[in-house]
Amino acid sequence: MDGSSLARAAWKRALAPDPPLSVASWADRHRILSSVASAEPGRWSTARTPYLREVMEALSPSSPIERVVLMAGAQVGKTECGLNWVGFVIHHAPGPMLLVEPSLETTKRVSRQRLDALIEATPELAERVKDPRSRDSGNTLLMKEFPGGVLILTGANSAVGLRSMPVRYLFLDEVDAYPGDVQGEGDPVELAMQRTVTFRRRKIYLCSTPTLKGLSRTKTFSLPATSPMTSAACSSPVRVSR
Ligand SMILES: Nc1ncnc2c1ncn2[C@@H]1O[C@H](COP(=O)(O)OP(=O)(O)O)[C@@H](O)[C@H]1O
Ligand SMILES: [Mg+2]
Repeated sequence: MDGSSLARAAWKRALAPDPPLSVASWADRHRILSSVASAEPGRWSTARTPYLREVMEALSPSSPIERVVLMAGAQVGKTECGLNWVGFVIHHAPGPMLLVEPSLETTKRVSRQRLDALIEATPELAERVKDPRSRDSGNTLLMKEFPGGVLILTGANSAVGLRSMPVRYLFLDEVDAYPGDVQGEGDPVELAMQRTVTFRRRKIYLCSTPTLKGLSRTKTFSLPATSPMTSAACSSPVRVSR
């Protein structure tokens, strides 16, 4: 190849858009599990939990899927999957995001133990989310600002938190442990989902370990289940639907 064609090839490469990155490939490339928050510290590997790939693909911008429901056993990576999505959003698809845990207490614990570990262990996130200890960081246990977006955290027992602001991304963790009614204002899942209605390209990730048969909220949301993974539900710990 001569000099000018080399230069032309380099120019073409520079102009080409980045390949669309999925949440799973982001996690494989960037996610480090810290010993503080993880049973198996070290690099994230989607191959280790292949059943989560479909969930993370659905949460990626290239997928038109709007709502992802994951009903699965405990300790299979449901929350990690959502944290990978949080990392991806901060790094590559910033926008307003809301993360809901069953109560304010659990929210604070998840923020301190898992979200902070995610941010600290990932340089691309640490440079975007300012250290809460620095002055004017704008960051607290329940709010993380980053260029182009903000992550708000709240508990399903806080009506004020669920009414906070419009969000494009909504992560509802362990929904079967949410109260049926939040401070007389109705179903916390419905309340949180209301936050997303103004966004045309919204995404909602709802996950839980199911509790009582017939009373499981995840089960209600996951019907009608359409994913091929659903048919494998008996042999797999995961049940996915959109
Ligand atoms: N693909 C993976 N690679 C390494 N560790 C994983 C993976 N998926 C899950 N884990 C680990 O499994 C444990 C349980 O994950 P978690 O998301 O808390 O489960 P769940 O929310 O389903 O109860 C955590 O310690 C997590 O770091
Ligand atoms: Mg969990």
